[in-house]
Amino acid sequence: MSKQFDVLVIGGGPGGYVAAIRAAQLGFSVACCESNPYADPKGEPRLGGTCLNVGCIPSKALLHTSHMFEEAGHEFEAQGISVGTPKIDVAKMIGRKNGIVTQLTGGIKGLFKKNKVTMLNGHGSFVGAGKEGGWQVKVGDEVVDAKQVIVATGSKARHLPGIPVDNKIVCDNAGALDIDAVPKKLAIIGAGVIGLEMGSVWRRLGAEVTILEAMPDFLSVADVDVAKEAAKVFAKQGLNILTGVKLGEVKATKKGVSVSYADKDGKAQKLDADRLIVSVGRIPNTDGLNAEGVGLKLDERGRIDVDGHCRTNLPGVWAIGDVVSGPMLAHKAMEEAVMVAELMAGQAGHCNFDTIPWVIYTSPEIAWVGKTEQQLKADGIAYKAGKIPFLANGRALGMGAPVGFVKMLACAQTDRILGVHIIGANASELISEAVVAMEFGAASEDLARICHAHPTLSEVVHEAALACDKRPLHF
Ligand code: FAD
Ligand code: NAI
Repeated sequence: MSKQFDVLVIGGGPGGYVAAIRAAQLGFSVACCESNPYADPKGEPRLGGTCLNVGCIPSKALLHTSHMFEEAGHEFEAQGISVGTPKIDVAKMIGRKNGIVTQLTGGIKGLFKKNKVTMLNGHGSFVGAGKEGGWQVKVGDEVVDAKQVIVATGSKARHLPGIPVDNKIVCDNAGALDIDAVPKKLAIIGAGVIGLEMGSVWRRLGAEVTILEAMPDFLSVADVDVAKEAAKVFAKQGLNILTGVKLGEVKATKKGVSVSYADKDGKAQKLDADRLIVSVGRIPNTDGLNAEGVGLKLDERGRIDVDGHCRTNLPGVWAIGDVVSGPMLAHKAMEEAVMVAELMAGQAGHCNFDTIPWVIYTSPEIAWVGKTEQQLKADGIAYKAGKIPFLANGRALGMGAPVGFVKMLACAQTDRILGVHIIGANASELISEAVVAMEFGAASEDLARICHAHPTLSEVVHEAALACDKRPLHF
C-alpha cells in the first residue's frame, strides 16, 4: 500500500517548507519531498532550497564578512581606529558561511519534526490521478498518494550557450559562493542582483571586478533615480560596470578565461579574468515532474501556469515560488505558501503582489516597494514625490554612511503612497515601514504624522513623507 497524505509538497525551499509547515499547522497530514544534491552531515538532502543552500543566506553571510573587511581597511581610520592592514582568510570566511547554512538547513528539519511534517528524500514526479481522487506522485522509488499537491520546485541558474559552467573557473551562483581564493581579476556576465552582490563581495576583498551587462540602461528594474545614484556610487567604489555589451566567445586560458565582447559603441574588446561568474537570470525547475504526462499547463516561459491564488489547471494541484510567475524572491514564495495552505483549509488566504519588497544587499543597500517613477509616468498616473538624502540625517553621519536617499511617491489626487525607493544604509530594514504603510493603504500624510525615534535612519523616511507635501523639517 502506498503512503497516503492529505498534502504532498514537491520541493523543500522557502516556498515548499513554509507551505508544508503551515498546512500541518492547519491539521493536514503533510509530506514534503526534496532531491537536491546538497547533502547534510547525515547524507540526506538539505531543506531550504536555493535560498538557504546557494542563495539568500550564504550570499548575505559573505556580504557581511566582506563589508567588515572593507570597513576595517578603509573606514575605521576616519573614526580614529587603527588596526593595520586587514587580511582575509577566505577558507575561514567560506567555512563560517557553510556553518550558517548547516545550522539553518538543519533547523528546518527540526521544524518539520515539531510540526509533524514527513520529509521524503527523492525527486517528485507526477504519475497520474489517484484511485480515490487526488494524485499519485512517484518520490524516488515509491509512489505516494496525496489529496492535494503543492509544486514548489523553484529555479536554477540560466547558463549561456557556449559558456559551460564548471563552478571552478566559470561559476553560476553556486560556484560564486565557494570561490577559494580572491581572484585577481573577476569577470561577471549580467549586472543584475547576483552580479552586483557577488561583484561587491569579491571587489571588497581585493578583486578587480568587471561586469558586462547586455542592456543599455543599468538596473532598469529599479527607480530611475536610484539606478543613477547606484551607478555613481558603485563606480566610485571601483566596480567596473559596462552596459550595452554584446557578448562574443568565451575561451579557456592557462590562467582562467578570456571573454570577447562588443562594447556599447560596437567596438571589439577582450577581457581576461581568473574567474567568470555567469548571472543572467534563472529558469523554473520543471524537469522530471512529468508535467506534460498529466497535462499540467506551463506558460510561454516554461513556468507553471497559475491564477492569482496559485491554482494550476489541474484540480488539487497548486504551484508557488520561483516555478511560477512573479519576482523570484524567497519572501514572495513564502507568502504564496501560506496563502495556498490557508486556501486549502477553506480560509481566506491572500497574497498582495503589489507590496512585495525588493532588496539588493550592496553597500549602500537598495530597497523598494510599489511603483517606480518611470512606471507611474508610463501608466499616466499623476503623482507627487518627496526625496530626502541621508546626508541631512544625524544618525547616518554618526554611522559614517551619509550616502543615498529615500524617495516617496504618492498619488497627486488621494495622497496614497504608491512607491518607496531607498538607497542607503539599512535600506533592507527601513523598507518594512513602507510595506506596512502601503498594506494599510496609508497616505504620505499618515507617515508624516507618525512619531519616528530620534536619531534614527527612519527619520529620513519620515522627512520624505513630509517632503511629499513640500514641508520637510530638516532639509
Ligand atoms: P527553491 O528555493 O529553488 O527551492 C526549490 C527546491 O525544490 C530545491 O531545493 C530543489 O532541489 C527542489 N526540487 C526541485 N525539483 C524537485 C523535484 N521534482 N522533486 C523534489 N525536489 C525538487 N531572494 C530573496 O528574497 N532575498 C535574497 O537575498 C536572495 N538572494 C539570492 C541570492 C542568490 C545567489 C540566489 C541564486 C537567489 C537569491 N534569492 C533571494 C532568490 C531566492 O533564493 C528564491 O526566490 C527562493 O529560494 C525561491 O524559493 P522556492 O521555494 O520557490 O524555490
Ligand atoms: P537578474 O535578472 O537580476 O539579472 C540578470 C542580468 O543579466 C540582467 O541585467 C540582464 O539584462 C543581464 N543579461 C542577461 N543576458 C545577458 C547576456 N547574454 N550578456 C550580458 N548580460 C545579460 O538575474 P540574476 O542576477 O541572475 O539573479 C536571479 C534572480 O535571483 C534575481 O532576479 C532575483 O530574483 C534573485 N536574487 C535575489 C536577490 C535579492 O533579493 N537580494 C539576490 C540575488 C538573486
